[in-house]
Amino acid sequence: MTTELSHHPLVQHYLTTIRDVATEAPAFRRACSGMTQVLVAEAAKLLEVDSVRVQTPLEETEGARIAGSVVFVPILRAGLGMLDHAMATIPGSSVGYIGLERDEATAVASCYYAKMPVLDEASQVYVLDPMLATGGSAVQCVDQLKQRGAKKLCMICIIAAPEGIACLEAAHPDVKILAGKVDRQLNEQKYILPGLGDFGDRLFNT
Ligand code: PRP
Ligand code: URA
Repeated sequence: MTTELSHHPLVQHYLTTIRDVATEAPAFRRACSGMTQVLVAEAAKLLEVDSVRVQTPLEETEGARIAGSVVFVPILRAGLGMLDHAMATIPGSSVGYIGLERDEATAVASCYYAKMPVLDEASQVYVLDPMLATGGSAVQCVDQLKQRGAKKLCMICIIAAPEGIACLEAAHPDVKILAGKVDRQLNEQKYILPGLGDFGDRLFNT
């Protein structure tokens, strides 16, 4: 199941900034944070809550608290650009890291690092990666998360290509995908069109 937020005014605004080739790193980072704020708030609708009672200064009333653990897993490097706002939105969350890098010639991703918190079937796990291109990185990440016990997974990305969505849905049909925008297609080098170029390079000024 894919959800796209392309009609959200904030998504349109920030996406235009990060697409713009003239946008430099400081503004790119701010727009990335702004996009993440909208995306994480939307993705948080998946969370379940427990009913609790809370004592105000005046009286007791009903309330609710997030049930179970929430885990963010940014895919290095580019996913780091989404992490600060994700953690700020859900301060009690845990964070796991996975490093995946696409080979420049083949666009096939390989894993160079993984460090995860304890995961169980109640954990709501959010994979953070701004670009879902071929889907190879996302599939490898989800493979590893499921091997470690995760069952409730949502992929949050800023731009997705139809090819990447099809790849992730074929390998893991249970994983929800939340995208700011679904773009047209990949080019021959497996970059997203119209896209925004290399997200990691633009975020980290490399
Ligand atoms: C980019 C991006 C995704 C991946 C998506 O990472 O951040 O992780 O490509 O492509 P895919 O869907 O075809 O796998 P990259 O490999 O460029 O590494 P970086 O984030 O370290 O720059
Ligand atoms: N990774 C990027 O950073 N950009 C793309 O267009 C595809 C993969």
